[in-house]
Amino acid sequence: MVTPMDDPANPVIFNNTVLRDGHQSLAATRMTTEQMLPAAPLLDQLGFGALETWGGATIDAGLRFLDEHPFDRLDALRAAAPDTPHMMLLRGQNIVQYSNFPDDVVEAFVRVSADHGMDIFRIFDALNDPRNMRCAIEAAKAAGKQAHGTLCYTTSPVHTPETFLRLGEELAEMGCDAIVIKDMAGLIPPQAAAAIVGGLKRRLSIPVWLHTHETAGLGASTYLAGIEAGVDAVDTSIVPFANGTGQPDTTRMMALLQDHPRAPDFDRPEKRELLQELREHFEKVYAELSDYTSHRNETVDSDALLYQVPGGMLSNFRNQLKEQNMADRFEEVFAEIPRVREALGWIPLVTPTSQIVGVQAMLNIKFGRWENFTPQAMDIALGYYGRTPAPVDPEVRALAARKAEKEPIEDRPADRLEPRMETLGRELREQGLPDTTENRVLQAMFPQALNTYWAKRAEEKTAPAAEETASAGSADLAITVRGRTYRVHVEELPA
Ligand code: CO
Repeated sequence: MVTPMDDPANPVIFNNTVLRDGHQSLAATRMTTEQMLPAAPLLDQLGFGALETWGGATIDAGLRFLDEHPFDRLDALRAAAPDTPHMMLLRGQNIVQYSNFPDDVVEAFVRVSADHGMDIFRIFDALNDPRNMRCAIEAAKAAGKQAHGTLCYTTSPVHTPETFLRLGEELAEMGCDAIVIKDMAGLIPPQAAAAIVGGLKRRLSIPVWLHTHETAGLGASTYLAGIEAGVDAVDTSIVPFANGTGQPDTTRMMALLQDHPRAPDFDRPEKRELLQELREHFEKVYAELSDYTSHRNETVDSDALLYQVPGGMLSNFRNQLKEQNMADRFEEVFAEIPRVREALGWIPLVTPTSQIVGVQAMLNIKFGRWENFTPQAMDIALGYYGRTPAPVDPEVRALAARKAEKEPIEDRPADRLEPRMETLGRELREQGLPDTTENRVLQAMFPQALNTYWAKRAEEKTAPAAEETASAGSADLAITVRGRTYRVHVEELPA
């Protein structure tokens, strides 16, 4: 096998994240399926290694805010972009929620997502505890799909390149098809990325992918360093759902790689035209989502480097502190974040730990340190989220045990959870909702939002059917999912 290390001419693969991370990072995850569908066939023609179309916050946001059944979106996007592998972000044992679920729910979620056409499961754990990733990895492999073991990049006194290399080796041994370095906060400097990529390439025989954000202005340079160290694929997005707190833009990365021996095959007139068309489409969508976009997210903010927290956390937090009348205590709260992280064993900051640590830091400043200990932070301290990168401060652990009246645990947390799939089916039937595997896994994670979704469908049934108003000639691909028709305008590639 020729690896990029042996053959520097081996082009790097670009993946595209505009339909997931792009709008999650820059527009509060509010892009609708209808806004995505005209872009999907164009994205499909560009030769991306994978399209990230699902997972992360999109499932929760789609159901809760957009009145969309998440599996309908997956079906529609799969049909509109059939030629490129689809990829999703999966939080290991947390699936796409914020706490651990039993293995039978994780397995069912992966299986049914694979049935709907998901190809690549990018699996991470907020604590980087591989025990929380094993079940999802095995389920993806059992479904004949790709499992990508994901390292959440973070900085702390206990994190060195070697920490990540050992985790990469462990995930490779668990059968992962690739290793992804996930730098959710955009904090990885180019040389650190090169050290981890180079180390993984030397030690492993599977591909190594790199995911970062442009939050602090390092993203594109980090990709270049990763590409020179042999990374196999990087994630890019499309302006205006790119740069800032999102991924570097595809066109920008192409320019950065001009005449580079590993430049991918994107610099062709027909591809440039497609990218331009995509940009024009997404400019319109971005304007439509103006309630959810913000100038702060669009700009490079080196404060993220100063505070070593994800960019999204910075902007959310500024708002929350304002609401709490604590805007003047911003510096104190942010100085408290590393203290909370240290006490909780230097956990990375990614959903859900970023929220848990952020809230705890705020409470520590408002009420005194650990006076108001949240149940979630206590659970981290007691091992209920998994093994932390460093030991939890013994005093903090003892305090959590006393306050929560719970014993600390060392074993894999999901081993303590009873199977739930049967119960979930019963819950759905009792509520008069369709008992399908899709609904069972959503019922496990988002029962309220799922109930609201189906209540609205029941109302629609009793209301007179709305006239279908498709403007003639505007679409030549109609995708009907559960009674809703999505129309997709497909552009042919110039010959
Ligand atoms: Co990301």
